[in-house]
Amino acid sequence: MNHLLNVQLLLLTILLQYGAVTSQVNPGVCRYPLGMSGGQIQDEDISASSQWSESTAARYGRLHFEEGDGAWCPEITVEPDNLKEFLQIDLRSLHFITLVGTQGRHAGGIGNEFAQMYKIKYSRDGSRWISWRNRQGKQVIEANRNAYDIVLKDLEPPIIARFVRFMPVTDHSMNVCMRVELYGCEWLDGLVSYNAPVGEQMKLSDQPVYLNDSVYDGAIIHSMTEGLGQLTDGVCGQDEFTKSHVYDAWSGYDYVGWNNESFPDGFVEIMFEFDRTRNFTSMKVHCNNLYSRHVKAFRQVVCFFRSDSDWEAAPLTFSPVMDEKNPSARFVTVNLANHMANAITCQFYFGDAWMLFSEITFQSDTAMYNTTLAPPKTRSPPNIQQEEDPTHKIDDSNTRILIGCLVAIIFILVAIIVIILWRQVWQKMLEKASRRMLDDELTASLSIQSEPFSYNPNPSGESSEPESNSAYEHIFPLGPDYQEPSRLISSSGTATSKSTATTVIQDGVPHYAEADIVNLQGVTGSNTYAIPAVTMDLLSGKDVAVEEFPRQLLTFKEKLGEGQFGEVHLCEAEGMQEFMNEEFLFDIPVDQPVLVAVKMLRSDANKNARNDFLKEIKIMSRLKDPNIVRLLGVCIYSNPLCMITEYMENGDLNQFLSRHEPEGQLALLSNAATVSFSNLCHMASQIASGMKYLSSLNFVHRDLATRNCLVGKKYTIKIADFGMSRNLYSGDYYRIQGRAVLPIRWMSWESILLGKFTTASDMWAFGVTLWEILNFCKEQPYSQLTDEQVIENTGEFFRDQKRQIYLPQPVLCPDSLYKIMLSCWRRNAKERPAFQEIHRALLELQP
Ligand SMILES: *[C@@H]1O[C@H](CO)[C@@H](O)[C@H](O)[C@H]1NC(C)=O
Ligand SMILES: *[C@@H]1O[C@H](CO)[C@@H](O)[C@H](O)[C@H]1NC(C)=O
Ligand SMILES: *[C@@H]1O[C@H](CO)[C@@H](O)[C@H](O)[C@H]1NC(C)=O
Repeated sequence: MNHLLNVQLLLLTILLQYGAVTSQVNPGVCRYPLGMSGGQIQDEDISASSQWSESTAARYGRLHFEEGDGAWCPEITVEPDNLKEFLQIDLRSLHFITLVGTQGRHAGGIGNEFAQMYKIKYSRDGSRWISWRNRQGKQVIEANRNAYDIVLKDLEPPIIARFVRFMPVTDHSMNVCMRVELYGCEWLDGLVSYNAPVGEQMKLSDQPVYLNDSVYDGAIIHSMTEGLGQLTDGVCGQDEFTKSHVYDAWSGYDYVGWNNESFPDGFVEIMFEFDRTRNFTSMKVHCNNLYSRHVKAFRQVVCFFRSDSDWEAAPLTFSPVMDEKNPSARFVTVNLANHMANAITCQFYFGDAWMLFSEITFQSDTAMYNTTLAPPKTRSPPNIQQEEDPTHKIDDSNTRILIGCLVAIIFILVAIIVIILWRQVWQKMLEKASRRMLDDELTASLSIQSEPFSYNPNPSGESSEPESNSAYEHIFPLGPDYQEPSRLISSSGTATSKSTATTVIQDGVPHYAEADIVNLQGVTGSNTYAIPAVTMDLLSGKDVAVEEFPRQLLTFKEKLGEGQFGEVHLCEAEGMQEFMNEEFLFDIPVDQPVLVAVKMLRSDANKNARNDFLKEIKIMSRLKDPNIVRLLGVCIYSNPLCMITEYMENGDLNQFLSRHEPEGQLALLSNAATVSFSNLCHMASQIASGMKYLSSLNFVHRDLATRNCLVGKKYTIKIADFGMSRNLYSGDYYRIQGRAVLPIRWMSWESILLGKFTTASDMWAFGVTLWEILNFCKEQPYSQLTDEQVIENTGEFFRDQKRQIYLPQPVLCPDSLYKIMLSCWRRNAKERPAFQEIHRALLELQP
């Protein structure tokens, strides 16, 4: 591949996700943890029927948490026929809940209580409680088998509620404890109930079709009142209404339908009630239109609006165009013309003998659903989301929300003060620590320069390696001894300590010992790129090749990340296309803003951080490769210093793949977006290509993973480095007390044990990245191992007594590809392939 004319550049840091937004809730995507494990749900919003002791109170019922005695436990033993105990969560606003997770009390091995089964009750107003049932009418949910595993259960149908209760159930008298999490998203429709005539039965010649609302959760007598059901479950019916997505369902399951003979006035009246007065923009009604069976969308709709307690006199009338050509089911959009209302009554006029609806959604204010899938801990707290999220509008008339706002602002201010204080302390400590680490690293590489795993692209002379197990044990705890392999080597006696700071150049290739360690991540992470001094000189031969971008043309959109000395923001840049001239091609029209990531140094950062930042700009501006994220411009004439880098519309590869499925039967059934095997290989080969470029410059990335790759149009990939400060992936990093965070699940054994980062250790990480890709990022590497066990496994790689565990072959992965992965994880760094080879091999794999 020829990179000559391609202009790109290595960036660090960035983004979370510029979420796509839609007007309907999508149950497949609306699966965010709502804040039990992330802490966004406050302690006071978690309550219970009783507690065994103060240390097993309701607030300890958070999934993943080990605080207190490790879970919520009720006071009384749960009896089979006594369903009094419950754990209750108040989400502060209506949520669409699609998934629940439960866990028992493990308490580091002391606890062994869990709930084998439970029921769920929920409420939208706090007074009327509804028992959840699945689509087959069953209430009891099977749950945990042991005290530690998390069991996730999809809620089919989903729940729309503000309050949720977990009620443990057992078949014999036993002690139970629970930790729980709810997954979903805010219910932006705001609908709390619809009241409608009951659905009817259609008699087709071959089969009866039941068009009742089978999951309605209100009262059903002559009509349906005070409930929600199939019209709000997020499932749209198919064109052929007798079929259903739901397994085992009867004919007509997805639709609620009425016949014109039962409605002499010619219309069906449905009343919708909302949580508060809203400014309505539209209503979308999903209608069947199988006209050959006398089913058509409505001919006309007349809507009345109620604000406060009075119904407005003048209704809104809308007549959609009748369609006798296309029999497909469709959303008919009714413009509600910014009417303010807390209830709407609509009369839907029959267009034919039958009218069948499967979904009705409402759009109000400017609220839109975010349809991108974000893993845990990225959501702002549900209860203060309204204030933080620009897509929400606060209803002034509602004093409760106002007070909520003020409280939230006070909380945020307190949090900011705490963070500022925390930073000042930590900044000092981290500076000290990183200086010490740098010293140690240099000493380390000096003292073990004859050791074969040190960075030495062209080693000559015999080498010896530390072999004794005692040596390994010595550094294993990653305690104070970590980063001091010099001591290790001299104590193990297999290498003599040569702690002289003389530079050794072999065959003109710089040895790691003389490497000028450039801290490219001082701002957003604690990572450092190692780059030999010689290369550094090459890079700094000319002046910075990027230009000053007018700061005022940047519009803040979202905070993407944060580090020790700065922050990364997602911004819109006006006029970026002209600014870059023809040097860089955007596929966005000139008059539209371009999305960019802006990394900025906090103005109070110290001199070292400033210098590093400028150095980083210098290096970044020289990196140009189609598969490396590119530096577009800088703002260095005034504070705060900024670096403007490319941003890709599909977010990072990890999130991108998590919301896709492999091609095949399953994906077809679930209607999920898919990525073909050849496209997976295409993406992997681009990563290999970008890495090939970096390694040709002797750049060591140190944190290659899917979370650090960006996805653009047509599966294009660019490698970035977001630093290790994104909450989103905090679980991927191992925290060493007071020191660095390390992506241990991606790191080679020699990086973990000896602190060696080389192109060969990048190759190891590439193997893990490949493994993630083939698993569609559905699983963390070594997910069944704890961090400590991962490090232990690293020791097995070092000892090489065939006890090391390799990542398993992914289902989708052909043998040839798995062989490539295994070659990346060879113990001897020199035996691992080069990125050139890997790139070639991956190109060959693509059909
Ligand atoms: C809807 O109809 C089906 C089929 O007759 C029946 O089994 C089910 O109980 C009905 N559901 C409701 C809520 O009436
Ligand atoms: C409703 O929203 C629209 C568009 O945002 C706005 O122009 C209008 O003034 C709002 N109506 C009321 C009564 O607030
Ligand atoms: C119901 O619809 C059919 C077909 O459009 C029509 O022939 C019939 O007269 C309608 N019945 C009533 C009561 O409106």
